[in-house]
Amino acid sequence: MHPETALNARCPNLCAMTTTTSRSLAIAAKGLAKAYGDKTVLDGIDLAVPTGTVFSLLGPNGAGKTTAVKILSTLIRADAGELHVGGHDLAADPQAVRAAIGVTGQFSAVDGLITGEENMLLMADLHHLSRGEGRRTAVELLERFDLTEAAKKPVSTYSGGMKRRLDLAMTLVGNPRIIFLDEPTTGLDPRSRHNMWQIIRELVSDGVTVFLTTQYLEEADELADRIAVLNDGKIAAEGSAGELKRLIPGGHVRLRFTDPAAYQSAAVALREVTRDDEALALQIPSDGSQRELRAILDWLDSAGIEADELTVHTPDLDDVFFALTDGAGVPDQPKETVR
Ligand SMILES: Nc1ncnc2c1ncn2[C@@H]1O[C@H](COP(=O)(O)OP(=O)(O)O)[C@@H](O)[C@H]1O
Ligand SMILES: [Mg+2]
Repeated sequence: MHPETALNARCPNLCAMTTTTSRSLAIAAKGLAKAYGDKTVLDGIDLAVPTGTVFSLLGPNGAGKTTAVKILSTLIRADAGELHVGGHDLAADPQAVRAAIGVTGQFSAVDGLITGEENMLLMADLHHLSRGEGRRTAVELLERFDLTEAAKKPVSTYSGGMKRRLDLAMTLVGNPRIIFLDEPTTGLDPRSRHNMWQIIRELVSDGVTVFLTTQYLEEADELADRIAVLNDGKIAAEGSAGELKRLIPGGHVRLRFTDPAAYQSAAVALREVTRDDEALALQIPSDGSQRELRAILDWLDSAGIEADELTVHTPDLDDVFFALTDGAGVPDQPKETVR
């Protein structure tokens, strides 16, 4: 074993990409690189996904999300990188990786000409389940994904949402502990999207690790424990949704008063505030961190001033995304990794 691998296996938190200390990593990539011809798609990226968490790889069309999923799920080979999935070395033991994972997405295995049930039974065959077990699994999963009624109809008659649900049901036949979802809700209507989100949450509550790619900031915000923004072949930023939002300027704390006297004294005493005399509210630039909030609260306490309401406003993920991917970016820290 490569000495660095040994170190990582003993001490997963050594990886700078995660703040998790004790949990093992379901997916770990170091220096993952892939080019097509002279086009670099992945320029040596690092990824670390703790077991039982949702990790979202977020990026615009063509960013390299599917390429990353295909590599990590053994469908194509990386040019370089030390890659582990489910504790198995991707290069040395792709079979073991394949046995540990499920993949759902853009390169879906769903066959439109046959019924949902037939698709499920095919999948059960692929996983070498016995006839009875395959049937039972198919029935259970079709039920779970609300496809029982449609089970005997050809998949070509299914709606987009139903096809995605069937795709995911097929993925779950082998009871994988790590699932790759490549843009699972792209093109779905809002109701089907929320439906899919709920399904993903249930998977996670069963302890499944989810590697989710998406172009939707809202989706990453809703589902992911950690988000990596993929841009120009590199991870432009990585962290929780909250951490990413704090990366870009525009956040502030708003203090609202009902007592005009308290408002006045706070406005006079606090530097760098924006006043809203009408609403008796003050805005203080802030990254929303605990340290800054404590400082503001301490200051209010020591001045004997009581605000009636304190709210933290962070820029939303859209702001972050556009700041990171259009090159205008965050001054001085566009490649920052949030810890
Ligand atoms: N088989 C291939 N041959 C050549 N270029 C490819 C191939 N697959 C993907 N690409 C290119 O790699 C880039 C990343 O593609 P992809 O991983 O599909 O992005 P995403 O999933 O983020 O939309 C794109 O520019 C795409 O055109
Ligand atoms: Mg893709």
